[in-house]
Amino acid sequence: MPRIPFFLFLLLSGLWLVVMSPVAANDALSIVYSGNLDGELEPCGCSAEGNLGGIKRRATLLQQLRARTPALVVISAGGLLSTDGPGDRLKGEYILKGMAQLNYDAIGVQWRDLAYGVDFAAQAGLPWVLSNSAQQSFARDRLIIRGEQRLRFFSWLDPAASPLKAMQGQHDLVDASPKTLQVALGRAKRAGELTVVASTLTAAAFAQQVGLENIDLYIEKAAYEVYGEPHREGRTLVVQPGSRGMRLGRLDLQIMGGKIVHWQHTVLPMPDSLPDAPELQAWYDEYNARVKADYLKRVEARKKQQAGQSPFVGEEVCKTCHEKQHQVWFGSQHAIAYEDLEDVGKAFDPACIRCHTVGFDQPGGFFDMNITGHLLGVQCENCHGAGRAHVESAGTKPVPNKDWPKEKVCAQCHVQKHSPGFNLETYWPKIAH
Ligand code: HEC
Ligand code: HEC
Ligand code: HEC
Ligand code: HEC
Repeated sequence: MPRIPFFLFLLLSGLWLVVMSPVAANDALSIVYSGNLDGELEPCGCSAEGNLGGIKRRATLLQQLRARTPALVVISAGGLLSTDGPGDRLKGEYILKGMAQLNYDAIGVQWRDLAYGVDFAAQAGLPWVLSNSAQQSFARDRLIIRGEQRLRFFSWLDPAASPLKAMQGQHDLVDASPKTLQVALGRAKRAGELTVVASTLTAAAFAQQVGLENIDLYIEKAAYEVYGEPHREGRTLVVQPGSRGMRLGRLDLQIMGGKIVHWQHTVLPMPDSLPDAPELQAWYDEYNARVKADYLKRVEARKKQQAGQSPFVGEEVCKTCHEKQHQVWFGSQHAIAYEDLEDVGKAFDPACIRCHTVGFDQPGGFFDMNITGHLLGVQCENCHGAGRAHVESAGTKPVPNKDWPKEKVCAQCHVQKHSPGFNLETYWPKIAH
């Protein structure tokens, strides 16, 4: 039953394209969309597969796309920030500054965008949209006009997902009732506008909570890194962005009578070959200088804090009794993990150091190249635990992580995001000692 209308639809829209396209320019609209940058100012470069995206490359790609299609609409479902590590707030500040240079038409607000407070996001000068906002901090919708086409962007923040619920003064940030949004969507449709809604709910969950009525394009919960295939739910076109800013999605739409009658979907990666935008260099240099200054400040604080003996001893000490194991380790990539950070100019970024040194952010762990130079790289104690007690007992006391399965040991650092190709079967033999 559903096959026939779909086939007919394809045929008709195809014909329509052939017949109409020379004169139908007014009915075409191209949209570039994304969602869930998730705090990725730039790729970490930990692996070739992971090395896509970044704001400097995105700026270049958008310039190229706009040069070819000046009427391009550029929107994001939001989710720009993250709170995974000590440097994420500073990084967030620069992500917002960088995004502000890319001239987005509209950006949805997600809970993670409010992690550092409403003002942190609201004052960044970005075209945020929060349709069920219960305050004045964000616009409820944005009208984007391209020639004859009028597109209205909305975003819905799932009240149930609020991490701020327990926090004082934040609980009244969103309106849980879908009424206002439903009314606004109806009004936009009656005015002949194309309606776009973004949220972190799947299309099915959104249909339950708010309903897809009067929505032409729904941007649903992002997938991990890779974009989903667009599909129809009723008459709504549903797209699913990929996370971490590694790709951009592009929709080339044909619109008739305020409805999407045909779409073409392309996913645009941002590989190495795409040069960084030179106008963002100053922004990037300033960010790295701030990261370094922040780091040095932390070092000072830690030095003062440092009291008593460190539980970490460093690989040289282990070597005295475990020479054979040491020799294998010394020849492994783990031994040069800090040098590799220096090579990419990230030896001062706490977000990177934590997996490339011993015990960073733990009492007595790595905090500085000069004073804790014996704790550089991934060492014995990253996997076996702090070894002082073991050493002082001449091996009688076992190492702290003696009972950890290998999986648990590796998973401290070999997570999907930083080691997408990790497989214990193939990785362990390379470091077995
Ligand atoms: C003074 C000598 C000595 C030093 C230094 C030493 N170990 Fe050991 N280690 C031993 C002895 C002896 C054993 C064997 C214990 C046993 O089998 O009962 C051992 C066993 C181990 C084992 C096997 C599991 C266990 O706990 O029994 C690991 C892992 C280990 N050492 C890691 C380290 C690491 C990491 C360091 C450096 C932080 C280190 N050792 C430094 C003497 C030493
Ligand atoms: C959660 C732990 C973790 C964090 C945080 C981390 N890395 Fe890594 N990094 C790894 C792992 C694991 C590998 C090894 C990946 C592999 O080969 O599978 C790696 C590898 C690397 C390499 C070597 C790549 C190569 O081709 O040899 C570089 C360079 C690197 N990381 C840089 C960074 C930078 C820059 C940051 C901060 C933006 C960072 N890392 C943050 C875990 C981490
Ligand atoms: C990347 C993690 C990792 C690093 C780095 C590492 N080890 Fe291990 N090591 C392990 C694991 C996992 C085992 C357990 C192997 C098993 O169960 O077969 C092990 C086993 C051992 C053993 C016991 C060997 C045996 O035959 O029972 C010793 C001793 C040891 N390591 C010492 C060291 C020393 C010394 C260093 C630093 C020079 C070091 N390890 C670095 C993960 C690591
Ligand atoms: C403290 C963080 C950390 C832990 C724990 C850790 N690794 Fe790593 N691993 C790294 C980093 C960082 C690199 C990249 C080093 C570089 O090349 O700069 C790496 C690289 C490697 C490589 C080299 C990959 C290549 O491209 O050849 C192998 C193999 C490896 N790890 C295996 C393991 C295994 C197996 C475990 C668990 C037993 C483990 N690692 C535990 C951080 C860690």
